[in-house]
Amino acid sequence: MKRVAVMTSGGDAPGMNAAVRAVVRAGLDKNVEVYGIRQAYQGLLAGDMALLTSREVSGILQRGGTVLQTARNEEFKTPQGQRKGQRRLNENAIEGVIVIGGDGSLRGAQKLHELGVPVVGIPASIDNDIWGTDTSIGVDTALNTILDAVDRLRDTATSHNRAFVVEVMGRDCGYLAVMAGILGGAEIVVTPENGVTMNEIASSLEDAYIRGKTHAIAVLAEGAPYQGPELARFLEQKHIGFEIRLTILGHTQRGGSPTAFDRLLATRMGVYAVELLLSGESGVMVARVGREQVPMPLKDCTSRTRQITPEYFDLARILSR
Ligand code: F6P
Repeated sequence: MKRVAVMTSGGDAPGMNAAVRAVVRAGLDKNVEVYGIRQAYQGLLAGDMALLTSREVSGILQRGGTVLQTARNEEFKTPQGQRKGQRRLNENAIEGVIVIGGDGSLRGAQKLHELGVPVVGIPASIDNDIWGTDTSIGVDTALNTILDAVDRLRDTATSHNRAFVVEVMGRDCGYLAVMAGILGGAEIVVTPENGVTMNEIASSLEDAYIRGKTHAIAVLAEGAPYQGPELARFLEQKHIGFEIRLTILGHTQRGGSPTAFDRLLATRMGVYAVELLLSGESGVMVARVGREQVPMPLKDCTSRTRQITPEYFDLARILSR
């Protein structure tokens, strides 16, 4: 293999740039040219790709977002779109592809593999919902960003005897919410998985008020059955003691410089992905299992969602007293 391509796809995640840099430099180490596909599958279909030199990936290790950019694309989900993508790769003499992204992006990678294109995936999504890997690129940074916000909110909450509803990202998976709850000292956590009702939240916050707490935090995952504004209005009407305020962290959670953990994770995964591709592997995702990196079939990783360890829900509850 003499020429491969790399793309970042789906929602951006801090550490994607570190992974691109690692792929390019690992390729150069093995005398393989690495092309960068801009704007993910949309760029692939447009044939928008160019050689990445070592200098072009200088100074990006610490940058959030993705220098290759990303885009959501419907056309590539169709068999015709996939054929067109394969054709664009042939036109550019690309012999293998590394896809860095979340579950939807990895499903696209699996499709290319099924067409006979050698493909390796790298999991990157702040949600930590990708099956097969303990963690994905961007999760640690996003969690630290959330904790920074929760800590700040508690300062102001305590000063005013207020309860805050903090809405965090996680469309189908409440990992960020549950971890933010445990590590940010929240009174209660609501996720798509745990089925906590608005009445239960009201009771828990009211209880905290009666026990003499000067602040309370409820962390709500965006994928929960009700949204932050609805919950905040409900709590206000319940007169639980605390004044209620709402903060939706939104896309602030996706940006920012990757943590040391994410830089290392992305760097190791990038180098390993190149090694896998050059050793003839295809249709696999780099997974972190314990302290090791292993190849996992993309088919398995994209056909189910990673579940939160039930112990974390217990921890969140026990520590909220
Ligand atoms: O999958 C990552 C994620 O940040 C989710 O947590 C969130 O629901 C979604 O992306 C938001 O997507 P967009 O940036 O397209 O609004």
